[in-house]
Amino acid sequence: METLSSTLQFRLAQPLAIGSLTLHSRVLQSPLSGVTDKIFRRLVRRYAPTAMLYTEMVHASGVCHVDTLPQIMEVDPDEHPVSIQLFDCRPDFLATAAQRAVAEGADTIDLNMGCPVNKITRKGGGSSLLKDPETATAIVKAVVNAVTVPVSVKTRIGWDDDHINAVEFARHMEGAGAKMLTLHGRTRAQGYTGAARWDWIARVKSALSIPVIANGDIVSVDAAIQCLEQTGADGVMCSRGTLGYPFLVGEIDYFLKTGQRAPIPTVIDRLLCAQEHLRQIAEYKGYRGICQARKHMTWYAKGFSGAAELRDALCQIESVAEGEALLQGAIAQLVTQGETARVWTEASSTALNPWGEPSLVQSEPTPLRV
Ligand SMILES: Cc1cc2nc3c(=O)[nH]c(=O)nc-3n(C[C@H](O)[C@H](O)[C@H](O)COP(=O)(O)O)c2cc1C
Repeated sequence: METLSSTLQFRLAQPLAIGSLTLHSRVLQSPLSGVTDKIFRRLVRRYAPTAMLYTEMVHASGVCHVDTLPQIMEVDPDEHPVSIQLFDCRPDFLATAAQRAVAEGADTIDLNMGCPVNKITRKGGGSSLLKDPETATAIVKAVVNAVTVPVSVKTRIGWDDDHINAVEFARHMEGAGAKMLTLHGRTRAQGYTGAARWDWIARVKSALSIPVIANGDIVSVDAAIQCLEQTGADGVMCSRGTLGYPFLVGEIDYFLKTGQRAPIPTVIDRLLCAQEHLRQIAEYKGYRGICQARKHMTWYAKGFSGAAELRDALCQIESVAEGEALLQGAIAQLVTQGETARVWTEASSTALNPWGEPSLVQSEPTPLRV
């Protein structure tokens, strides 16, 4: 098990300033298209009371000239701090979209300069901006001038191995007024494959004065510790590690604040969480929510005997009742095998973290009644 050096522990215990905004957590939940809607963020928030959460990426041109904003921009009044992420390649569209995002409640505007998808890069957006630092700079300047909240950039280390320009590009972004940079340690050509190259994150961190957040392969508390030690980054952003596991941001946050490991949720905890996710997403989005829930359900159903069959069935559900019956059946089976659920509760006042917020503690595992 990894441990944090005392120097790093001290540094990471300090709040993180993103321009005028102070964050009381060094762990962030990344924007994930098709995943980080209001319902998923609500689950993450439960275990990470002060972490910054991101919406899915929003196309700026779809926001500028419409009366009704897309549902993916909706922010709950009680879910702050939250950032709305925008993508496009046109500074004026992004500036207008950013103003609308702030009116919706965004605490920061994040600009997507890392998306590898052809449909987006072909039009000059996402990671193709790495090849066009002038436009990227114009975008940041336009958005910074348009809003009063801090503006951040999320990008990759370069287009491909022959064009790794993270340090130079990041300097441009800082010069243009970005108040934080999140660096995904892969090139565009890598997509989501191969290891994230944290050494590039270390180089960018040394070159900038604004906070640098490390992203890529932060899948556990140990990975977060290794990454923070290797890069000197100001924080970490979790992505695929949270699919079917909205506990991850909270687990890392808890460790950074207390030096202790939060108890790992049991298989039953995860299935109960899946059930809650299904109910809430269906309530929020109707049948479309049930269709979207199928992939979430298969991500939760892992790591126990019978999980593969359960996944096969979950990815065909047509209703909440059908999904609940499958999950309840699996839970009942696990209970007969002696599995338990853990109950997460708010800590007593003796367990407040340095900023006085309740820490998450766990009571003794309790047998489930099903
Ligand atoms: C399903 C999926 C959706 C994503 N959507 C977004 C997005 O909307 N905006 C963004 O900046 N990055 C997006 N990403 C990239 C992640 O935020 C992150 O940078 C990447 O997955 C690397 O982290 P990881 O190795 O921990 O997964 C997405 C990734 C995945 C797998």
